[in-house]
Amino acid sequence: MEEKRIYINTFGCQQNEADSETLMGIAGTRGYLPTEQIEEADLIIFNTCAVREHAELKALSTTGQLKHLKEKNKNLKIGLCGCMVQQEHRKEDIKNKYPYVDFVFGTNQLSRFGEILDQALVAKKRLFFVEDYSTNPGTICEGLPVKRKFSHRAYVSVMYGCNNFCTYCIVPYVRGRERSRKPDCIYNEVKGLVESGCREITLLGQNVNSYGKDLETPFPFAKLLEKLSSIEGDYVLKFMTSHPKDASFELIDTMAKEKHVERHFHLPMQAGSDRILAAMNRRYTSERYFELVDYMRKKIPDIAITTDIIVGFPGETEEDFEKTLEALRTCRFDGVFSFIYSPRKGTPAAEMEDQIPAEVTRDRMARLLELQMQIQTENNEKLVGKTIRALCEGESKNDPAYLSARSDSGKLIHFLKPEKEIATGDFVTLRITEARAIMLIGEITV
Ligand code: SAH
Ligand code: SF4
Ligand code: F3S
Repeated sequence: MEEKRIYINTFGCQQNEADSETLMGIAGTRGYLPTEQIEEADLIIFNTCAVREHAELKALSTTGQLKHLKEKNKNLKIGLCGCMVQQEHRKEDIKNKYPYVDFVFGTNQLSRFGEILDQALVAKKRLFFVEDYSTNPGTICEGLPVKRKFSHRAYVSVMYGCNNFCTYCIVPYVRGRERSRKPDCIYNEVKGLVESGCREITLLGQNVNSYGKDLETPFPFAKLLEKLSSIEGDYVLKFMTSHPKDASFELIDTMAKEKHVERHFHLPMQAGSDRILAAMNRRYTSERYFELVDYMRKKIPDIAITTDIIVGFPGETEEDFEKTLEALRTCRFDGVFSFIYSPRKGTPAAEMEDQIPAEVTRDRMARLLELQMQIQTENNEKLVGKTIRALCEGESKNDPAYLSARSDSGKLIHFLKPEKEIATGDFVTLRITEARAIMLIGEITV
């Protein structure tokens, strides 16, 4: 039988990356092998994102490029899934403007991908499987086949959905309400990964701190970390994302005592002004945020803290923005993912008055980046001379004479290839010799 090939393009966050590995696993049960060459694919799946306009435009323009492939190969099947197509208006766009897309399915249909594919392969018409979360809340389906991209690192979803409804965010609409997986199912998956040699496991959820609240017997996230850390082996446990309103001192205590848990906390702050935080419906104040940061630094002195910031939320004044800059000076983050506010159809913030003009947000963004690069360089310079354990991630993308590694605190370190063979997924001990804003240079010590 001729081999069939599937090509998956994943947009958006780690949650989508993880979902794509399940799609790949399910496609495997139908005889599809993965390919990196889109031209040789018999089946193309785009797993889309809706978090900002840019993500949607990228998915749509890349979809536009598929037209010529379909003209060349009439048997090619094209499917779209993920957060963008979960929105009714985008589903309609695909229906009306992209006639060469054969099938579309929403985020709550992922576990049905096998059946959907079976139908799409024989269907004479285009198929649309998009159901609103109010009619289909999306169940958790354990035991689906997964084809992982890497053997040394893996994503493990611990929960799906989000209940927070931050006023700017589309995620709760396209991913539904919070649903936690059972602790034992997560434990077994992580144990299997560690036993197969996986070294870095990232637990995923939109707000991992509210993990387990919806279970029949509630099970806090700190307890889950503790349970997973009891697995024997040489590995690092990472997690994202945490919401400051739910992040607990108990969780920080657990991180401090469990040697398998990363020395890194990604805690999205979004803004430094309490007025803007309230308008965002974040339900914490900057004071509460600073308390968490202080506690982390006290309990785990070598911790790296990173954050997300939105610039130009509706109504953000110069004074509000300066509070964000002040917060960056106070927290001295090791990394900031900063985003220009993007209005999302159907969210409350998109309807708010006083949307900020593009030239103002651009100027604020430039000032934020300049300050943050300076802080990061200063933070990293303090690491020069220190010895750090890191996981080798393979050859450096910029210079084949170097290897790249990621520390337990998430720092990227480049080091000259030593004589002895070092494989992707090996732990190495590096002495830091040079510091830049976004990476470190080190040398191998043993
Ligand atoms: N659940 C995670 C975030 C997921 S989205 C959390 O709450 O931390 C990742 C980041 O995208 C958010 O932290 C936010 O900074 C940014 N983001 C979300 N919606 C946005 C929008 N409409 N415009 C700009 N940035 C946005
Ligand atoms: Fe979006 Fe807020 Fe939920 Fe994060 S916590 S996914 S920002 S609504
Ligand atoms: Fe995007 Fe959906 Fe993730 S909107 S950021 S892919 S949850």
